[in-house]
Amino acid sequence: MKIGVLVGGGDAPGLNAAIKSAVSKANELGFDVIGIRNGWAGLLDVDTQPLNSDSVEDIHSRGGVILYTSRTNPFKIENGPKKVIENIKKLKLDALIVMGGEDTLGVAERLHEMGVPIVGVPKTIDNDLSGTDYSIGFDTAVAIATDAIDRLRTTAEAHHRIVILEVMGRNTGWIALYAGLAGGANLTLIPEVPLGVSQVYDLLKKRHEMGKACSIIVVAEGARLVKEKEQILMESMEKDEFGHPRLGGISHVLEDLIQGNTGLEVRSVVLGHLQRGGSPTAFDRILAMRLAAKAVELIAEKKFGEMASFQACEVTSVPLREGMKERKSVPLELYEMAKAFFR
Ligand code: F6P
Repeated sequence: MKIGVLVGGGDAPGLNAAIKSAVSKANELGFDVIGIRNGWAGLLDVDTQPLNSDSVEDIHSRGGVILYTSRTNPFKIENGPKKVIENIKKLKLDALIVMGGEDTLGVAERLHEMGVPIVGVPKTIDNDLSGTDYSIGFDTAVAIATDAIDRLRTTAEAHHRIVILEVMGRNTGWIALYAGLAGGANLTLIPEVPLGVSQVYDLLKKRHEMGKACSIIVVAEGARLVKEKEQILMESMEKDEFGHPRLGGISHVLEDLIQGNTGLEVRSVVLGHLQRGGSPTAFDRILAMRLAAKAVELIAEKKFGEMASFQACEVTSVPLREGMKERKSVPLELYEMAKAFFR
């Protein structure tokens, strides 16, 4: 049996540990593995690299992904799916492990429906896939964002300032809410709950009156601010091959609004890709290893069209279609619980 491993979409800390584990489990079962480079692009132009236990031995602690990645969508390219299927045959692949978020696994699901033997591994720092409690990379992103809050707090305190930290999270506020809770943010704004700017001013003025000049606000890049019944969302005009605009800059808008309306001194920081860079946490490494080993087991059992999944501390699997049926939003009960700290 020959297995191809492919990673698509944004990179996420832990992917290399997943690749190492897939190779090790596959070898244990007597399967060969090759890496497909640059996501689906590597199956359109046949760009591969050999993978064996020696070549992956020391990669578990490394960030990025040794196979590289891209946001290529074969369904947006003329004859793209046909080419992918032909090249899978040309490479004599018996099965494909696809590591990705909703876009990459969405392509995997469509190809599976066309007869390609595929299994999925969930990875996205956004943690928004409904078929798994945790996706590879989320824990590391939260740890980095929490560390950023701790650091920003000391400088904010020293200057009696308000500091806004903008974190990733296109459609969901998982990183923002977890880091905000762990870092003791005074307010967290998430895409699921649009917030009126006047509520932000009121909270900050109240803190100021109580003699608390330093405040920390965490905002997800996809959060919406409501001002005079209009929702403000900062997104680019151009879109990627999956139709997503680039997000970013809502913290700067909020900085200007707060400063202009309250006269308080504000600074904003966009954490950006620092959240995806560097070493994965121990949790992400182990999660990645367990999910990837499960993906190989699914192949051995010929359970194609499934995605490895982490649920209630157990590794299991769900059909790819189920795993992406809906976007996993932050539960409102969790946001309500966090609100107790918004003061
Ligand atoms: O999907 C993961 C993610 O990190 C989002 O949180 C973010 O909006 C996006 O990727 C950024 O993508 P890129 O690396 O292409 O700028």
